[in-house]
Amino acid sequence: MPRTIHLALHPYGVGGPGQHGLWKDPRVAKNASIDIGYYIRQAQAAEHALFDALFIVDSQFINSTYPSHYLNRLEPLTLLSAVAVHTNRIGLVATASSTYNSPFNLARRLASLDHISGGRAGWNVVTSFDTGTSRNYGLDEHLDYATRYGRALESVQVIRGLWDSYEDDAFPADVARDVFLDAAKLHPLDHVGEHFRVAGPLNLSRSPQGQPVIFQAGVSEEGRNLAAQVAEGIYAPGGSLEQAQEYYRDIKRRMADAGRDPDHIKIFIHGGPIVAPTDEGARHREREIFDEDNDFASNLALLGRGFGAHDFSQYDPDGPFPDVAHLAERGGRTGAAKIIERARRESLTLRQVVETVADFKHSPFVGSPTTVADTIETWFDAGTFDGINLAFRTDRELELFVDGVVPILQKRGLFRTEYEADTLRGHLRLPVPANRYAREPELVGTQG
Ligand SMILES: Cc1cc2nc3c(=O)[nH]c(=O)nc-3n(C[C@H](O)[C@H](O)[C@H](O)COP(=O)(O)O)c2cc1C
Repeated sequence: MPRTIHLALHPYGVGGPGQHGLWKDPRVAKNASIDIGYYIRQAQAAEHALFDALFIVDSQFINSTYPSHYLNRLEPLTLLSAVAVHTNRIGLVATASSTYNSPFNLARRLASLDHISGGRAGWNVVTSFDTGTSRNYGLDEHLDYATRYGRALESVQVIRGLWDSYEDDAFPADVARDVFLDAAKLHPLDHVGEHFRVAGPLNLSRSPQGQPVIFQAGVSEEGRNLAAQVAEGIYAPGGSLEQAQEYYRDIKRRMADAGRDPDHIKIFIHGGPIVAPTDEGARHREREIFDEDNDFASNLALLGRGFGAHDFSQYDPDGPFPDVAHLAERGGRTGAAKIIERARRESLTLRQVVETVADFKHSPFVGSPTTVADTIETWFDAGTFDGINLAFRTDRELELFVDGVVPILQKRGLFRTEYEADTLRGHLRLPVPANRYAREPELVGTQG
């Protein structure tokens, strides 16, 4: 089968990181981020366009300077359970932290979404970016990288074990024989590991796709290794064509090194296409969006997020960039390291750092429908992604993409013209994991 592009939609309500001016746009409802109707409409539009998934990101720490969407938003699994009953085919990916959830609870909630949606659930495993989250869970400090990612790996392993609690034919529900459950097909987990002790079994059977699809979003060494070991999808930052190529090759190589088929992980890069009837019109709109968002105080606050929500407004903006590397040790270390390195190399002031981070950068996916389709095709052929996680400024931008770019990709054989499957796994062409007990009967009753 020819390789085709996967598309996901990533709604940002009243404005995510950097989208400081979005909530002021008269077309954006001021309650979008807490309006289930908004998410249902987004999901239905994406489903109408045959997208693979709706992707909901999340966080659990704020202060008053956080992005508008973060200040007031719905919890992903609750949100997607409501979306599930208003859609039929589109995948539903929920971000949930392995640092601040117990595996049993997560296994149950994700499997519930998988049943409610008929096998369309995915879990974006994050270890939580915001260090301040720890204080919402009774911990003085965010766990360090090694512990967070160790916990993430074990969490996925335990959760997958719990999802296999029942073999597929565990419920004969045979009235004549008076057998509801075939008890031999119910398996406890009895997991004892470094981070968790979980007896199991889970009180929920497998869904039509076997198990929810595991996604991961993290760019550090630890994040990449976690992806190579257990992820089936990645939400990657993208960046330039060369950076995306490097990331794509690196992950697929790590997959092969881990003994997995590199095709069994679908790498989605972030994309914010801006489409207009002409290239010039799209460039104009791109500049207009930049101007709407360009606010020094908001950019300064956003910079602080990667340094444990540090308040940079306490420093002289025209003084040297302060020595704050230690504040990112447990949080956004990968991104912070790049910022610090550049500030040192170019002797930048705080103001200059903010300006370089938030500077106007041409996005690759901007132009007329043909230009954007050409760029997507070039990037896809260059081995930069399997899919794009699309974020649109407004519904109008989504419409322009769906009506203009999608038909061109379809004509070129790069995107589906109808759903070939009913499950998220099916859309992503990922194998259904066999139940471990059915596959390897000798493992019955042992640790998962
Ligand atoms: C594209 C992308 C999306 C992410 N989405 C989330 C998210 O929704 N919630 C969250 O807590 N972290 C999110 N992260 C952050 C990661 O979970 C991770 O904590 C962060 O990138 C720092 O770890 P790293 O150095 O491994 O990248 C995202 C990261 C990337 C690259």
